Amino acid sequence: MNSNSTHQMGRLHLVSAGIGDSDNLTLKAVHVIQEADVVIAMQFVQRQTESYYKECVQVFDAGHGLFTELSRRGNADVAKIEAQENKIRDVIHQSVQCGLNVAVIEFGDPTLYGPQVGYLKEFSELKPIIVPGISSFNAANAMLRQSLLNSQSQTLMLSSVSAIQQYKVNPPSVLVLFTMKMEIEKMVEALLELYVPETQVALAFNAGFTTKQQTIYVKLRDLVEESNKIDIPWECLVYVGNIKEMSDDEGNTFTDTSTHQ
Ligand SMILES: C[S@@+](CC[C@H](N)C(=O)[O-])C[C@H]1O[C@@H](n2cnc3c(N)ncnc32)[C@H](O)[C@@H]1O
Repeated sequence: MNSNSTHQMGRLHLVSAGIGDSDNLTLKAVHVIQEADVVIAMQFVQRQTESYYKECVQVFDAGHGLFTELSRRGNADVAKIEAQENKIRDVIHQSVQCGLNVAVIEFGDPTLYGPQVGYLKEFSELKPIIVPGISSFNAANAMLRQSLLNSQSQTLMLSSVSAIQQYKVNPPSVLVLFTMKMEIEKMVEALLELYVPETQVALAFNAGFTTKQQTIYVKLRDLVEESNKIDIPWECLVYVGNIKEMSDDEGNTFTDTSTHQ
Protein backbone atom coordinates (compact mmCIF):
# COMPACT_ATOMS: atom_id res chain seq x y z
CA MET A 1 0.00 0.00 0.00
CA ASN A 2 1.20 3.49 -0.71
CA SER A 3 0.92 6.52 1.53
CA ASN A 4 -2.25 7.60 -0.31
CA SER A 5 -4.26 4.59 0.83
CA THR A 6 -6.45 6.76 3.08
CA HIS A 7 -7.07 9.19 0.25
CA GLN A 8 -10.82 9.62 -0.32
CA MET A 9 -11.93 9.11 -3.91
CA GLY A 10 -14.78 11.18 -5.33
CA ARG A 11 -18.08 9.63 -6.38
CA LEU A 12 -19.70 9.40 -9.79
CA HIS A 13 -23.48 9.83 -9.85
CA LEU A 14 -25.91 9.56 -12.76
CA VAL A 15 -28.64 11.88 -11.52
CA SER A 16 -32.11 12.35 -12.90
CA ALA A 17 -33.27 15.96 -13.17
CA GLY A 18 -36.77 14.66 -13.74
CA ILE A 19 -38.83 15.83 -16.68
CA GLY A 20 -40.44 19.13 -17.55
CA ASP A 21 -40.64 21.81 -14.85
CA SER A 22 -37.34 22.54 -13.14
CA ASP A 23 -38.74 21.52 -9.73
CA ASN A 24 -39.62 18.01 -10.94
CA LEU A 25 -36.53 16.49 -9.34
CA THR A 26 -36.12 14.73 -6.03
CA LEU A 27 -34.54 16.18 -2.90
CA LYS A 28 -31.85 13.53 -3.19
CA ALA A 29 -31.06 14.73 -6.72
CA VAL A 30 -30.82 18.32 -5.46
CA HIS A 31 -28.43 17.27 -2.68
CA VAL A 32 -26.19 15.31 -5.06
CA ILE A 33 -26.13 18.18 -7.57
CA GLN A 34 -25.34 20.69 -4.79
CA GLU A 35 -22.40 18.50 -3.70
CA ALA A 36 -21.04 18.05 -7.23
CA ASP A 37 -17.67 19.61 -8.05
CA VAL A 38 -18.06 18.60 -11.69
CA VAL A 39 -21.33 18.55 -13.63
CA ILE A 40 -21.72 16.84 -16.98
CA ALA A 41 -25.04 17.47 -18.72
CA MET A 42 -26.66 18.41 -22.01
CA GLN A 43 -27.19 22.15 -22.32
CA PHE A 44 -30.94 22.17 -21.75
CA VAL A 45 -30.41 20.03 -18.64
CA GLN A 46 -27.75 22.50 -17.45
CA ARG A 47 -30.27 25.33 -17.82
CA GLN A 48 -32.82 23.30 -15.86
CA THR A 49 -30.47 22.56 -12.94
CA GLU A 50 -27.86 25.33 -12.78
CA SER A 51 -29.50 27.08 -9.82
CA TYR A 52 -28.32 24.16 -7.65
CA TYR A 53 -24.66 24.22 -8.74
CA LYS A 54 -21.77 25.08 -6.40
CA GLU A 55 -20.19 28.42 -7.24
CA CYS A 56 -16.88 26.80 -8.23
CA VAL A 57 -18.41 23.91 -10.21
CA GLN A 58 -16.86 22.86 -13.51
CA VAL A 59 -19.49 22.17 -16.18
CA PHE A 60 -19.07 20.01 -19.30
CA ASP A 61 -21.37 19.01 -22.15
CA ALA A 62 -22.51 15.39 -21.74
CA GLY A 63 -23.10 14.89 -25.48
CA HIS A 64 -25.88 12.62 -26.69
CA GLY A 65 -25.41 8.87 -26.52
CA LEU A 66 -21.67 9.03 -25.84
CA PHE A 67 -20.04 5.63 -25.22
CA THR A 68 -22.87 3.97 -27.20
CA GLU A 69 -23.80 3.39 -30.83
CA LEU A 70 -26.43 6.13 -30.56
CA SER A 71 -23.76 8.84 -30.91
CA ARG A 72 -22.34 7.17 -34.01
CA ARG A 73 -25.55 6.89 -36.01
CA GLY A 74 -26.12 8.37 -39.47
CA ASN A 75 -23.65 11.06 -40.54
CA ALA A 76 -22.06 11.43 -37.12
CA ASP A 77 -18.51 12.81 -37.07
CA VAL A 78 -16.95 9.81 -35.32
CA ALA A 79 -13.58 11.52 -34.80
CA LYS A 80 -15.33 14.36 -33.01
CA ILE A 81 -17.36 11.93 -30.88
CA GLU A 82 -14.21 10.03 -29.91
CA ALA A 83 -12.44 13.27 -28.96
CA GLN A 84 -15.44 14.22 -26.81
CA GLU A 85 -15.42 10.78 -25.16
CA ASN A 86 -11.68 11.02 -24.45
CA LYS A 87 -12.11 14.43 -22.85
CA ILE A 88 -14.97 13.13 -20.65
CA ARG A 89 -12.86 10.06 -19.68
CA ASP A 90 -10.02 12.33 -18.55
CA VAL A 91 -12.32 14.67 -16.66
CA ILE A 92 -14.14 11.88 -14.81
CA HIS A 93 -11.09 9.76 -13.94
CA GLN A 94 -8.97 12.72 -12.83
CA SER A 95 -11.80 14.28 -10.82
CA VAL A 96 -12.73 11.10 -8.99
CA GLN A 97 -9.04 10.37 -8.30
CA CYS A 98 -8.67 13.84 -6.80
CA GLY A 99 -11.61 13.25 -4.48
CA LEU A 100 -14.06 15.39 -6.46
CA ASN A 101 -17.70 14.44 -6.89
CA VAL A 102 -18.98 14.17 -10.44
CA ALA A 103 -22.66 14.35 -11.37
CA VAL A 104 -23.76 13.33 -14.85
CA ILE A 105 -27.23 14.83 -15.01
CA GLU A 106 -29.87 13.26 -17.23
CA PHE A 107 -33.49 14.16 -17.99
CA GLY A 108 -36.23 11.64 -17.22
CA ASP A 109 -35.30 8.14 -16.11
CA PRO A 110 -31.76 7.38 -17.33
CA THR A 111 -32.63 3.70 -17.70
CA LEU A 112 -35.49 4.33 -20.16
CA TYR A 113 -33.86 5.21 -23.49
CA GLY A 114 -31.68 7.65 -21.59
CA PRO A 115 -28.98 9.23 -23.78
CA GLN A 116 -26.43 9.17 -20.92
CA VAL A 117 -26.81 5.50 -19.99
CA GLY A 118 -23.49 4.73 -21.75
CA TYR A 119 -21.68 6.38 -18.82
CA LEU A 120 -22.76 3.48 -16.57
CA LYS A 121 -20.89 0.86 -18.56
CA GLU A 122 -17.95 3.04 -19.53
CA PHE A 123 -17.23 3.98 -15.91
CA SER A 124 -18.45 0.76 -14.29
CA GLU A 125 -15.23 0.39 -12.29
CA LEU A 126 -16.12 3.63 -10.48
CA LYS A 127 -19.42 2.03 -9.41
CA PRO A 128 -21.64 4.91 -10.52
CA ILE A 129 -24.76 5.48 -8.43
CA ILE A 130 -28.05 6.25 -10.16
CA VAL A 131 -30.26 8.81 -8.46
CA PRO A 132 -33.69 8.01 -9.87
CA GLY A 133 -36.20 10.57 -11.00
CA ILE A 134 -39.43 11.28 -12.78
CA SER A 135 -39.64 9.86 -16.28
CA SER A 136 -41.86 11.28 -19.00
CA PHE A 137 -43.75 8.04 -18.38
CA ASN A 138 -44.49 9.03 -14.76
CA ALA A 139 -45.43 12.57 -15.74
CA ALA A 140 -47.70 11.34 -18.55
CA ASN A 141 -49.37 8.80 -16.23
CA ALA A 142 -50.26 11.71 -13.98
CA MET A 143 -51.80 13.54 -16.96
CA LEU A 144 -54.02 10.53 -17.68
CA ARG A 145 -55.35 10.55 -14.10
CA GLN A 146 -56.39 6.90 -13.94
CA SER A 147 -55.06 3.57 -12.82
CA LEU A 148 -53.14 1.81 -15.56
CA LEU A 149 -52.66 -1.43 -13.64
CA ASN A 150 -55.58 -2.21 -11.38
CA SER A 151 -56.06 -5.95 -11.70
CA GLN A 152 -53.53 -8.71 -11.57
CA SER A 153 -54.37 -9.92 -15.06
CA GLN A 154 -53.50 -6.61 -16.72
CA THR A 155 -50.26 -5.98 -18.52
CA LEU A 156 -48.49 -2.71 -19.19
CA MET A 157 -45.63 -2.55 -21.64
CA LEU A 158 -43.15 0.27 -22.26
CA SER A 159 -41.49 0.13 -25.62
CA SER A 160 -40.57 1.95 -28.79
CA VAL A 161 -42.45 2.29 -32.06
CA SER A 162 -40.01 0.01 -33.86
CA ALA A 163 -40.75 -2.87 -31.45
CA ILE A 164 -44.55 -2.94 -31.91
CA GLN A 165 -44.50 -6.10 -34.07
CA GLN A 166 -43.02 -8.08 -31.18
CA TYR A 167 -46.29 -7.83 -29.21
CA LYS A 168 -48.44 -9.33 -31.97
CA VAL A 169 -48.92 -12.65 -30.21
CA ASN A 170 -49.93 -11.18 -26.89
CA PRO A 171 -50.72 -7.45 -27.02
CA PRO A 172 -50.53 -5.81 -23.59
CA SER A 173 -53.62 -4.24 -21.98
CA VAL A 174 -51.81 -0.92 -22.30
CA LEU A 175 -48.86 -0.31 -24.60
CA VAL A 176 -46.86 2.87 -23.98
CA LEU A 177 -44.58 3.98 -26.79
CA PHE A 178 -41.60 6.30 -26.55
CA THR A 179 -41.75 7.91 -29.95
CA MET A 180 -38.35 9.44 -30.72
CA LYS A 181 -38.72 10.21 -34.46
CA MET A 182 -42.15 8.77 -35.10
CA GLU A 183 -43.61 7.92 -38.53
CA ILE A 184 -47.25 7.95 -37.65
CA GLU A 185 -48.63 6.00 -40.65
CA LYS A 186 -46.21 3.13 -40.07
CA MET A 187 -46.92 3.16 -36.36
CA VAL A 188 -50.69 2.99 -36.86
CA GLU A 189 -50.33 0.23 -39.46
CA ALA A 190 -48.32 -1.84 -36.99
CA LEU A 191 -50.72 -1.12 -34.11
CA LEU A 192 -53.72 -2.21 -36.20
CA GLU A 193 -52.19 -5.68 -36.32
CA LEU A 194 -52.43 -5.79 -32.51
CA TYR A 195 -55.56 -3.83 -31.64
CA VAL A 196 -59.01 -3.28 -33.14
CA PRO A 197 -59.60 0.09 -34.87
CA GLU A 198 -61.88 1.28 -32.02
CA THR A 199 -59.03 1.00 -29.51
CA GLN A 200 -58.44 4.14 -27.48
CA VAL A 201 -55.21 6.04 -27.96
CA ALA A 202 -53.94 8.86 -25.76
CA LEU A 203 -51.14 11.14 -26.92
CA ALA A 204 -49.36 12.77 -23.99
CA PHE A 205 -47.51 15.89 -25.12
CA ASN A 206 -44.88 17.76 -23.08
CA ALA A 207 -45.56 15.78 -19.93
CA GLY A 208 -44.33 17.46 -16.77
CA PHE A 209 -44.35 20.98 -18.26
CA THR A 210 -47.32 22.34 -16.30
CA THR A 211 -48.07 25.19 -18.67
CA LYS A 212 -47.91 23.28 -21.94
CA GLN A 213 -48.71 19.62 -21.31
CA GLN A 214 -51.66 18.26 -23.30
CA THR A 215 -53.46 14.99 -23.71
CA ILE A 216 -55.19 14.15 -26.97
CA TYR A 217 -57.59 11.22 -27.02
CA VAL A 218 -58.35 9.61 -30.35
CA LYS A 219 -59.47 6.21 -31.63
CA LEU A 220 -56.74 4.22 -33.31
CA ARG A 221 -58.65 4.24 -36.62
CA ASP A 222 -58.66 8.07 -36.63
CA LEU A 223 -55.10 8.65 -35.51
CA VAL A 224 -53.49 9.21 -38.92
CA GLU A 225 -56.16 11.71 -39.98
CA GLU A 226 -56.04 13.46 -36.62
CA SER A 227 -52.25 13.69 -36.70
CA ASN A 228 -52.50 15.85 -39.83
CA LYS A 229 -54.38 18.47 -37.82
CA ILE A 230 -51.96 18.76 -34.93
CA ASP A 231 -48.30 19.44 -34.44
CA ILE A 232 -46.97 16.37 -32.62
CA PRO A 233 -43.90 17.35 -30.60
CA TRP A 234 -40.86 15.15 -30.02
CA GLU A 235 -41.96 15.11 -26.37
CA CYS A 236 -44.83 12.71 -27.00
CA LEU A 237 -45.75 9.38 -25.44
CA VAL A 238 -48.40 7.22 -27.10
CA TYR A 239 -50.72 5.13 -24.89
CA VAL A 240 -52.75 2.45 -26.64
CA GLY A 241 -55.32 0.04 -25.21
CA ASN A 242 -57.33 -0.11 -22.03
CA ILE A 243 -57.39 3.55 -21.09
CA LYS A 244 -60.28 5.87 -20.36
CA GLU A 245 -60.78 9.25 -21.91
CA MET A 246 -60.66 11.85 -19.14
CA SER A 247 -61.76 15.46 -19.31
CA ASP A 248 -59.73 18.13 -17.64
CA ASP A 249 -61.02 21.12 -15.71
CA GLU A 250 -58.01 23.21 -16.67
CA GLY A 251 -58.73 22.71 -20.34
CA ASN A 252 -55.41 21.12 -21.22
CA THR A 253 -57.02 17.94 -22.49
CA PHE A 254 -58.07 17.88 -26.10
CA THR A 255 -60.46 15.31 -27.45
CA ASP A 256 -60.81 14.07 -30.98
CA THR A 257 -64.27 15.42 -31.75
CA SER A 258 -64.70 13.09 -34.73
CA THR A 259 -65.22 10.18 -32.32
CA HIS A 260 -68.19 11.94 -30.67
CA GLN A 261 -70.34 12.94 -33.60
C1 LIG B 1 -34.62 9.42 -25.67
S1 LIG B 1 -36.17 9.11 -24.92
C2 LIG B 1 -35.81 9.61 -23.28
C3 LIG B 1 -36.87 9.23 -22.28
C4 LIG B 1 -36.46 9.62 -20.87
N1 LIG B 1 -35.37 8.80 -20.40
C5 LIG B 1 -37.62 9.52 -19.90
O1 LIG B 1 -37.54 8.77 -18.93
O2 LIG B 1 -38.59 10.24 -20.11
C6 LIG B 1 -37.07 10.45 -25.59
C7 LIG B 1 -38.54 10.13 -25.77
O3 LIG B 1 -39.16 10.18 -24.49
C8 LIG B 1 -40.44 10.76 -24.61
N2 LIG B 1 -40.45 12.03 -23.88
C9 LIG B 1 -39.40 12.74 -23.42
N3 LIG B 1 -39.81 13.83 -22.78
C10 LIG B 1 -41.17 13.83 -22.84
C11 LIG B 1 -42.19 14.69 -22.33
N4 LIG B 1 -41.90 15.77 -21.63
N5 LIG B 1 -43.48 14.35 -22.61
C12 LIG B 1 -43.80 13.24 -23.30
N6 LIG B 1 -42.88 12.40 -23.78
C13 LIG B 1 -41.59 12.69 -23.56
C14 LIG B 1 -40.71 10.98 -26.10
O4 LIG B 1 -41.33 9.81 -26.62
C15 LIG B 1 -39.30 11.14 -26.62
O5 LIG B 1 -39.26 10.86 -27.98
